[in-house]
Amino acid sequence: MTEPLQPPFHTIQWDGGLDGTLLLLDQRKLPAEVRFLPCRTVEDVMEAIRTLAVRGAPAIGIAAAFGICIGLSQAKPASIPQALTAIEDAAVRLASSRPTAVNLFWALERMEKAARRFAEQNPTSDVRDFRRHLLQEARSILQEDIETCRAIGEHGWTLIPDGGGVLTHCNAGALATAGIGTALGILYTARRYGKEFTVYVDETRPLLQGARLTAWELSQFGIRPTLICDNMAASLMKAGKISAVLVGADRIAANGDTANKIGTLGLSILAAHFQIPFYVAAPTSTFDLSIPSGQFIPIEHRSPDEVCSFRNLRIAPPDAEGYNPAFDVTDAERISAVITEKGILRPPLEKAIRQMLGTK
Ligand code: MRU
Repeated sequence: MTEPLQPPFHTIQWDGGLDGTLLLLDQRKLPAEVRFLPCRTVEDVMEAIRTLAVRGAPAIGIAAAFGICIGLSQAKPASIPQALTAIEDAAVRLASSRPTAVNLFWALERMEKAARRFAEQNPTSDVRDFRRHLLQEARSILQEDIETCRAIGEHGWTLIPDGGGVLTHCNAGALATAGIGTALGILYTARRYGKEFTVYVDETRPLLQGARLTAWELSQFGIRPTLICDNMAASLMKAGKISAVLVGADRIAANGDTANKIGTLGLSILAAHFQIPFYVAAPTSTFDLSIPSGQFIPIEHRSPDEVCSFRNLRIAPPDAEGYNPAFDVTDAERISAVITEKGILRPPLEKAIRQMLGTK
């Protein structure tokens, strides 16, 4: 039996026991430096999420789950009711760090639910047992994400064309998860099963997740990336160089509309025009069945400075204003398939989502 694919680096780690430290591979420093950022307070975790030291929907959720454990460690509650209050307080603060990726709220809810259930079932138990239970829940979220990425890779790899080019946007890889990634995990799995293809990587302005992160990560996995500027996709498609577009997701509404990094919508329109399949890879924790369509997905707006500057160097005249939505929504009708850990969803997506996740 072949060994399961492993990322050659750790994006998120918990170091120690109940009062341990969250260690994040600091993505603000890549590719120049591989440095780990220790988080010891809820404020540290919030800042890491806000400034994209940790980023990508699943990774944000996992970091927030450990953020709850850190909140407990800081609060040092003397009783279970006090611990429940500390969790609520940490969850409210962590939830305010970024709005679009639903995995953040999913993970916080899961931690709060685990806390309430434990408190109900063990009203007289020791606070340390309660805290151990919560740390175990955060560890399970991380471990399950590793398995989920593997399953997405196994389901999705057959969709990858042999001998063609695959275009990806932003980073939906190991740097965005605890495992091999979602979209990129599919590429690693396809490569392992012998498929040959070129990976075209959009640079992904303004924060360059493609150039800085995806290109670095692909190299770590032994795949040489071909980097392109965001405005080159149409011309490559017209030239027949792209056989599939493969991206991740930050939130998928009940009808299949999908929020992902700004620029994804444009790629989906181009792919439809050139009749190229457009695939989304995401864990089921990225689905938000409480909203009927993409118009209800909150879109994060970041500092205009990120647009007016390039790696902290001002590139626009002083009086120029920037406009900086960080995500856009791709309409379900332009998505050829969504690859999840439970299998592949095909259009009509609304029906497929209901059938697979109706009881979520
Ligand atoms: O702003 P970011 O870097 O957090 O945006 C990340 C993305 O858009 C990813 O494609 C998405 O979160 C999926 S990660 C598996």
